Amino acid sequence: MELLNVYALYPIEPVRGRGSYVYTADGQEYLDLYGGHAVISIGHAHPHYVERISQQVGQLGFYSNSVENSLQQQLADRLGALSGYDDYRLFLCNSGAEANENALKIASFQTGREKVLAISRAFHGRTSGAVAATDNPKIVAPFNRTEKVEFAPLNDLEAVRERLATRQFAALIIEGIQGVAGIHLPSDEFLQGVRTLCTETGTQLILDEIQSGYGRSGRFFAHQYSGIRPDLITMAKGMGNGFPIGGVLVAPHFETWTGMLGTTFGGNHLACAAAIAVLDVMREEQLIENAARVGEYLIEELKKIPQLKEVRGRGLMIGMEIEGSASELRKKLLFEEHIFTGGAGATTVRLLPALSVSQEQAEQFVQALKKLL
Ligand SMILES: Cc1ncc(COP(=O)(O)O)c(C=O)c1O
Repeated sequence: MELLNVYALYPIEPVRGRGSYVYTADGQEYLDLYGGHAVISIGHAHPHYVERISQQVGQLGFYSNSVENSLQQQLADRLGALSGYDDYRLFLCNSGAEANENALKIASFQTGREKVLAISRAFHGRTSGAVAATDNPKIVAPFNRTEKVEFAPLNDLEAVRERLATRQFAALIIEGIQGVAGIHLPSDEFLQGVRTLCTETGTQLILDEIQSGYGRSGRFFAHQYSGIRPDLITMAKGMGNGFPIGGVLVAPHFETWTGMLGTTFGGNHLACAAAIAVLDVMREEQLIENAARVGEYLIEELKKIPQLKEVRGRGLMIGMEIEGSASELRKKLLFEEHIFTGGAGATTVRLLPALSVSQEQAEQFVQALKKLL
């Protein structure tokens, strides 16, 4: 049987990983500044993570959401403490798209409204609701196309004001930092203005922190730089360090009922063990602080390189605008310098390393980049 051919692949197969490095079968080492698409938060094969998952799978890997599972509460307690959202409630699912899908539903149930306002160039995932709120017609099938979703430009508060004034929108959904679009930040003033407009018009504010959350920006969630508190926060990627898990943080004012949402695999024992291990390591090794420190160093050093047209980002979510083809530069970094990076559009290179990446590894990248440029 052939695989469905939907991904553009590099002819490289990492078979082993440790910290910020991955290795092919012949032993070649690669510095991973892509983190498997912003997923690797605490580093590859972290010993505590390996031990916690191994122990759990040997004990009980899965049981359904029809019985009590105290691991879910352990995860919620740790997440509440580290994120500063202890008064919110946690719904567990399996991926980023599913988290957004559920957040959109919760907002619509609560308000009784049908419409959603999203932001130009947004990416929220590939399931029906999430892809409808994604500003990329190429991945929206006719089945998913809907006039219920409208888009407003990033950082254009007047455009948001005009739409929300109709009081037809259940939710406004926005990324903490736009990732797939090429690392674009909502300004603090924009987020604060959006928060006020949502409150005034009864619109639920959904912060998609799937890529920008879990410490990546140097704060637990990127929106925390602006001081706002959204109504719903979605997360996934770094949450399980590679084990599939997603979640929605739900503010206290939402009415919920038994049977309102559900999933077979969401919050299963293994996923919880992985996510608990991630939060243990983030706290013990102060990885959010490391992301802020190494990220600041990296952004400063990159800004000194005259060949880069622009450097954007916060913490370890960094976009570099280059002259010429980003994919050519990424190939050279990979095949000549053995460094994985991410892409976004024709001219942006994205850096999304593990939050444990060291200053020396960041320096290694800066030197390699200077050599190639
Ligand atoms: C901001 C954002 N939202 C949602 C998603 C979708 O997540 P998943 O691929 O886990 O469904 C992504 C994935 O890249 C993302 O970057």
